[in-house]
Amino acid sequence: MVVIKALDFTVKIDELQKHQLVAKTYSDEISSNQVLLKVDKFSFTSNNITYGIVGERMSYWKFFPTQSGYGIIPAWGFASVIISNHPDVKVGQRFYGYYPMSTHLLVTIDHVSSKGFVDKTEHRQGLPPIYNFYTNTEHDPNFTPETENLISIFRPLFITSFLIDDHLAAQDFYQATQLIVTSASSKTAQAVACLLAHRKKEDGLRFNLLGLTSNKNVAFVKQLGWYDQTMSYDEISHLNASEKSIVVDFTGNYQTQFQLQTLLNGNLVYNCLVGLVDWQNLTGENPLPQKGKLFFAPTYAEKRQKEWGAAKFHQNTGMAWQQFIDAIQPIISIEEHSGTEGLEQLYLDTLNGKIDPRHGNIVRLNKRGD
Ligand SMILES: NC(=O)c1ccc[n+]([C@@H]2O[C@H](COP(=O)([O-])OP(=O)(O)OC[C@H]3O[C@@H](n4cnc5c(N)ncnc54)[C@H](OP(=O)(O)O)[C@@H]3O)[C@@H](O)[C@H]2O)c1
Repeated sequence: MVVIKALDFTVKIDELQKHQLVAKTYSDEISSNQVLLKVDKFSFTSNNITYGIVGERMSYWKFFPTQSGYGIIPAWGFASVIISNHPDVKVGQRFYGYYPMSTHLLVTIDHVSSKGFVDKTEHRQGLPPIYNFYTNTEHDPNFTPETENLISIFRPLFITSFLIDDHLAAQDFYQATQLIVTSASSKTAQAVACLLAHRKKEDGLRFNLLGLTSNKNVAFVKQLGWYDQTMSYDEISHLNASEKSIVVDFTGNYQTQFQLQTLLNGNLVYNCLVGLVDWQNLTGENPLPQKGKLFFAPTYAEKRQKEWGAAKFHQNTGMAWQQFIDAIQPIISIEEHSGTEGLEQLYLDTLNGKIDPRHGNIVRLNKRGD
């Protein structure tokens, strides 16, 4: 029997600053239809931190259960099959999907096709299907080895951005003449801004696309070139409150929400709540004037897939993806973080908002050659 040493990076559920490495082992004697994957790399952004913040409420801890009181944050990346006990999945095949922050993942294969497979492990059932599908890189029309880091970072975020743009257009932008994006420097906001700027040009639309960001990121957001106007959070009181406005909120910051709601008042026609990057400042003294509407990408994705059919959905997102990836490639520099020390530092820096938005962060927990 061959013994394979593995590691999980676990975090304390009620105190995310605390983390713990857990060593475990797998053997090559796995059950029928099981496959052991070795995780090559995964991306890490604030989106992963948000999985931890809402882990209990939105079941993110259920994907990769670990010791009591701790959780494993899911991350998007690539892994290779090292042991297979399924006739249609071969050692060496590579799959893109939802992995634990770990060196390995054991899956139980279902619905295998040339496109990929579904993990039917018991504890993952009942969770949104989009997270349980693993894409075979050999048959992924949008996969290239040159862009795999960008795929790892942006693909899950881009789908959300695509759906936000699609939803706003379907609603005729709620007749708004101003669209305000908070945490405008975040990766998901970058893709939203790129798509909206493109749509504006293509369809001759006239709304003002305003990016709100922190002082330190103003120059970067301006440089993106997709926002018509960029402001720091300190300047919110100067925005034009007489325009009918949409807010697409990635920050979750209570103060920013409070100021925008108070200032725009009846002119806030749609308050789209997408993210919680500023997780340490989500609440304040008084209740917010309005609740806003939560935007959960998997729900919108399922709706659109039903309406368009899977083929059209993939065709539409694929075309938009290609345009975005060409635009973002020269802007983002990839930073690789290897081993447990690399991951620990990146985890804490991301948790504490110390990440430069110019960087796209990739983790290799299995050092090359391991
Ligand atoms: N609802 C959904 O279905 C869905 C889907 C995808 C993503 N999201 C959410 O969208 C958000 C953005 O994710 P992302 O991965 O694109 O983020 P990201 O690229 O890692 O965002 C980085 C930016 O967020 C702000 N920020 C990060 N950490 C912060 C902190 N601790 N305190 C204050 N500001 C902080 C800063 O922007 P500024 O300086 O510009 O504020 C920073 O440049 C996440 O909350 C994610 O979960 C939601």
